[in-house]
Amino acid sequence: MLAKSILALTVVVAIALQFVPVERTNPLGAGGPNVSVELQWTLRRSCYDCHSNETRWPIWAYLAPISWMVVDDVDAARKILNFSDWAAYEPGVRVALRSMVGPTTAIHRMPLWYYVSLHPDSRLSQSELEALAAWAGSAPEEADIPALPARPSP
Ligand code: HEC
Repeated sequence: MLAKSILALTVVVAIALQFVPVERTNPLGAGGPNVSVELQWTLRRSCYDCHSNETRWPIWAYLAPISWMVVDDVDAARKILNFSDWAAYEPGVRVALRSMVGPTTAIHRMPLWYYVSLHPDSRLSQSELEALAAWAGSAPEEADIPALPARPSP
C-alpha cells in the first residue's frame, strides 16, 4: 500500500516537473570567428552545443529535471564564451578567450566529459587539439577578424 502511494506520488511529481518553464533559447548572434572550415567544423561539433546560439537541443533537454541541468550548462557556457557573438567581443577579449581554448582542450577539461560520453563525435583528435592550440596562440590580427560584420545594435 505504502509502496503504491510512493509510486503514485513519484509519478505525479515527475509529471508536475514538466510544467516548470525552461528557456531553451537560440537567439541570432553577431557572427562567428573567421577560422578555416576545418576548425569551424571542430568548434561546431565539439563546442557549439554549449558555447553558441546554435545549440542542438537533445531529446533529454525536454525532460525535467535533466532539462534544467542542460539549460544551466548552456547558459553558463554562453556567458563565458559564445562563439555566435565572437564578432561583438572587443579584440582584447577575443585574445583572452582564445588563449583559454588551448589549455582547457589540451587537458580535456573541455568539452565536458559527460557531454563527450553522450556525444562521442565531439571527442577531439590529436590533430584537432593541435589546430585549436595553434589558433589559440596565433597573432591577434589573423585570428580575430570576424567572419561577419557585427550586427548594429537596435
Ligand atoms: C556540455 C557543454 C559544454 C561543451 C560541449 C563545451 N563547454 Fe566549455 N564550458 C562549459 C561550461 C558550463 C563552462 C563554465 C565553466 C564550468 O562549468 O566550470 C565552460 C567553460 C569554458 C571555458 C572557460 C575556461 C574554463 O575552463 O572554465 C572555455 C575556454 C571553454 N569552456 C572552451 C570550450 C571549448 C573550446 C569547447 C569545445 C572544444 C567547449 N568549451 C565545449 C560547457 C561546455
